[in-house]
Amino acid sequence: MATLSSLTSPLFFFSFALLSIALISASFSPIDHYLVNCGSHQPTTLDSDHRRFTGDATTSYLTTTESTSLSDPNPDPKSSPIYHTTRVFTRLSKYKFGIKNPGDHLVRLHFKRLSGGIDYGRAKFHVLANGFVLFNSLGMDMGGEFEAVKDYVIKVDADVLVVTFVPTDRSNFAFVNAIEVISAPNDLIADVAQYVSFHKNEKISGLLMNGYETMYRVNVGGWKVTPFNDSLWRTWVTDDEHIKSSDGSSKVHFGGRINYQEGGASREVGPDNVYNTARVIRSSGSSVPELNMTWTFPVIGGYKYLVRMHFCDIASIARGMLVFNVYVNNNLAYENLDLTEVTNGLLASPFYADFVVDGDSSGVLTLSVGPSNMSLPRAVDAILNGVEIFKINNSVGSFDGEICAHAVLKSWKKGNGNVMYPMLAAVFLLLIAFVIIHRRRTGVTDSVAWWRLPTEIPEVNLKYGNQLSSNKL
Ligand SMILES: *[C@@H]1O[C@H](CO)[C@@H](O)[C@H](O)[C@H]1NC(C)=O
Ligand SMILES: *[C@@H]1O[C@H](CO)[C@@H](O)[C@H](O)[C@H]1NC(C)=O
Ligand SMILES: *[C@@H]1O[C@H](CO)[C@@H](O)[C@H](O)[C@H]1NC(C)=O
Ligand SMILES: *[C@@H]1O[C@H](CO)[C@@H](O)[C@H](O)[C@H]1NC(C)=O
Repeated sequence: MATLSSLTSPLFFFSFALLSIALISASFSPIDHYLVNCGSHQPTTLDSDHRRFTGDATTSYLTTTESTSLSDPNPDPKSSPIYHTTRVFTRLSKYKFGIKNPGDHLVRLHFKRLSGGIDYGRAKFHVLANGFVLFNSLGMDMGGEFEAVKDYVIKVDADVLVVTFVPTDRSNFAFVNAIEVISAPNDLIADVAQYVSFHKNEKISGLLMNGYETMYRVNVGGWKVTPFNDSLWRTWVTDDEHIKSSDGSSKVHFGGRINYQEGGASREVGPDNVYNTARVIRSSGSSVPELNMTWTFPVIGGYKYLVRMHFCDIASIARGMLVFNVYVNNNLAYENLDLTEVTNGLLASPFYADFVVDGDSSGVLTLSVGPSNMSLPRAVDAILNGVEIFKINNSVGSFDGEICAHAVLKSWKKGNGNVMYPMLAAVFLLLIAFVIIHRRRTGVTDSVAWWRLPTEIPEVNLKYGNQLSSNKL
């Protein structure tokens, strides 16, 4: 408790000044910043992080000839309001976001199955963004409580970012609950990294050419970090699911100030709450433990992955005492990493190392840290504070399969572009709207037959296709 005398002491003002500087520098303001609640007519402010999402029905981002908005008649009050509405597309549809600040952008797509409702078995679609194939839903299990946040960093050279939803054909649909598009800080992705394989450990460059999909974002030894405490509104989960064995390691938490330095990891690279917790291997006796800490992450073959390991020496009692080895897929990736050396002699100063690896057929990516032959007894002999693993797009610009964005667009045109049924579409949308309103009024929750309507459209089309035609896409 602060007493009156401590409140008026010079020390108090000094620490208060430091705190204010920390708070000011914590705010990152992206130039391009779009938060869209899809299927909604009004803006929504999230309780969890105070961000305001605009409803897509009241903005001009969405260009489509056929879409409808659904809202959950009985939303779970504990779930975020961005998951209470969905926009459903039965044709190729685009959201266009003007870009003032070319370069890397964060793109986050939110998907959640609304309770009851439409037949999600027909949610079969691709999502594209400026030439990248972000994903397709074909292999996704949308049963039960489907919920997914897809998180990407992609480079935008154009003055517009176009996120395109492409149903596989007329009998299927695409949907999305919310979209975030945020300018990334310039230092988020570096152009060089260390490529590590069984045969090689070499510096590679050109990483800025690629797009990245976040597969894992882990706060090692710490708690879950929510968007509220991350200047890029990211989520970091605990490492419980990934640590192979915690025997011989311990968790540490640091209550002091993290020393962010010019040129080192910035607060946007990793927030305080990631750097102020870690897992460590400690030697208490006169010998250095023969032990590694190991984490495993399921990955799929056929892609390269960017592995970012976050370090911050919050555990040593003095400088120059923490030297250890880093292994990626059991290959020595960084020998004798001396954290004092890479942080200009400052303790509690963050540092990260980027490695590129091939996702191999084993289906698992393994990371370890452990003492090296320069580690000291009676000291901390290995540490890890955080891990991020990103999938790198393949050579056709896809994060999900071998089909390029161009081919996805072409296949839609070929199979679906020749005829259009504006009247039938309008009837269909009205019916959906009617049933939703009806359901909301009556509070009926059981499944009703009209949900099968989307499947019936192609049959109607077969009958009337020759009479109603249009070549618009
Ligand atoms: C943010 O971080 C602080 C400090 O670690 C913690 O006390 C607080 O609960 C966090 N808030 C949220 C919303 O995660
Ligand atoms: C730590 O892991 C590396 C890579 O798998 C291995 O070569 C080394 O022998 C391990 N050290 C110990 C003490 O198990
Ligand atoms: C230290 O370990 C490396 C391999 O990790 C080995 O090549 C080197 O000879 C060792 N040095 C000493 C002094 O044992
Ligand atoms: C990722 O996509 C970009 C743009 O299409 C391409 O230039 C790059 O080579 C791709 N990356 C890989 C690793 O193939």
